[in-house]
Amino acid sequence: PDLPDLLVVGSGFFGLTVAERCASELDLKVLVLDRRHHLGGNAYSEKEPTTGIEVHKYGAHLFHTSNQKVWDYVTRFTTFTGYQHRVFARYQGQVYSFPMNLGLINQFFGKAHTPEEARELIAKQASEFDTETAANLEEKAISLIGRPLYEAFVKGYTAKQWQTDPTELSPDIITRLPVRYTYDNRYFNDTYEGLPTDGYTAWLTRMADHPNIEVRLETDFFDQSNGVAEQFKGKVPIVYTGPIDEYFGNSEGRLSWRTVDLEQSVVDVDDFQGTSVVNANDEDLPYTRILEFKHFHPERVKTHLPGKTVIVHEYSRFAEEGDEPYYPINTAEDREKLLKYRELAKLEPMVLFGGRLGTYKYLDMHMAIGSALSMYENKLRPHFADGAELK
Ligand code: FAD
Ligand code: NA
Repeated sequence: PDLPDLLVVGSGFFGLTVAERCASELDLKVLVLDRRHHLGGNAYSEKEPTTGIEVHKYGAHLFHTSNQKVWDYVTRFTTFTGYQHRVFARYQGQVYSFPMNLGLINQFFGKAHTPEEARELIAKQASEFDTETAANLEEKAISLIGRPLYEAFVKGYTAKQWQTDPTELSPDIITRLPVRYTYDNRYFNDTYEGLPTDGYTAWLTRMADHPNIEVRLETDFFDQSNGVAEQFKGKVPIVYTGPIDEYFGNSEGRLSWRTVDLEQSVVDVDDFQGTSVVNANDEDLPYTRILEFKHFHPERVKTHLPGKTVIVHEYSRFAEEGDEPYYPINTAEDREKLLKYRELAKLEPMVLFGGRLGTYKYLDMHMAIGSALSMYENKLRPHFADGAELK
C-alpha cells in the first residue's frame, strides 16, 4: 500500500493542526491515527442524546487566547459565542463569587470593605507566616491570603485535588494565590474568549475535513496486531502526540499524572445550579466541583429538552495504569525521568514529539494549537519544502 507523506499519532488539537497545515499548505498526504473511537482528543464533545445538551466528555473546555496567530487560525474553522467563563465556590451552605475577589471577601466576612480596607485585612491575616520560609503548602497559602480565606477556599479543595493534607504538600505547588480587590469575577482575562458555536466536535471535524487527510480511529500505534509502528517507523516522518514514556516502553519509569473521574447524570430539573461550574470547597463533599453543561450555551435554550439538565460531578485522584492522564504531577522524580526521555527522543530518527502527552506539559487548547503551528513552521515545512533534516 502507498505510504502517506506524514503519519500523525493522535487526533487532538495538536495532531489535527499539524495534519491540516501539512495537507492544506504543502499538499502532503497525511494519515492520522487515534486509538479512541472518536477524533478530537480531550476536547471532544457530544450531545447527551435525551436532552440535546452538548457535553465535553473529558471535562469542561473553555476556549480563550491572547495569541493573535492562534485566533486567526482557529476562526477559519469555527465561530465563537460570546460566552464568558465565571466560576462560583460553595462553602458551608453559601455560594461565593470566585476567584477570590471583593465580593467574596465582603460576603465571607459579612461586611462591606473598600478595596483598601480589604487589602489591609488580608495583609494582616497573611502576616501569620512568611512566604519565604513556609514549610508546606498550608503555610505558604496562609502567608499569601491569611488563615480564614485559606481554610474556606483552599484547604478542602486542595486536599481533594491531591488526596493529601496540604500540610504534607510541597509549598512549591503554589506560587501565587491571587486576590482581586475589585468585583471582577471573570475567570480569564484573555483578548479572545468564547465557545465554538456549533460545538467542539464540529470544529475538530472541519479541521480534518481535507481530501489529503485520512483519520483512522480505534487504531493504536503500538498495537502489534495491526503492525502500524513497524509499517511506518523509519519510513515516513512521524508526529507523535501520545505519552512520551509509553513511546519508549516506560524504560525510564512512568511519568505521574492526576486524573479526573466524571460522573454524569441527567436530573429532572430545568436548572440545577444556575451556572456552569460550582466548586465544592467543603472537605466532606467528596467531589471537587459540579458542572452543568446547558449553561455553556444559553443561546441554545430552544434546542434543549425543558425540565431536564445534565450535570457532572468531578472527582480528582492519582492516575493508575489504564486511567486517562489529565494533569502532570511533575515531581522532581518526574522531571528527572522526563529529561531522560527527552534525550531518547532526540535520538529517535524522523519522529517529532508534541502535544500535552508527548511533552508531559499541561497545555491549554490555544497553547497546543500554537505549539503545533510552531512545529509546522520551524520543523515540518523546512523539512518538506527545503529538505531540512527533521529533528
Ligand atoms: P489530546 O487532546 O490528549 O490528544 C491526544 C490524542 O492522542 C488522544 O486522542 C489519544 O487517544 C491519542 N493517542 C495517544 N496515544 C496513542 C496511540 N498510541 N495510538 C493512537 N492514538 C493515540 N484547555 C483549554 O484551553 N481550556 C480548558 O478549559 C481546558 N480544560 C481542560 C480540562 C481537562 C480535565 C483537561 C484534561 C484538559 C483541559 N484543557 C483545556 C486542555 C486540552 O484538553 C488540551 O489543550 C488538548 O487536549 C491538547 O491537545 P493534544 O492534541 O495535545 O492532546
Ligand atoms: Na505573609
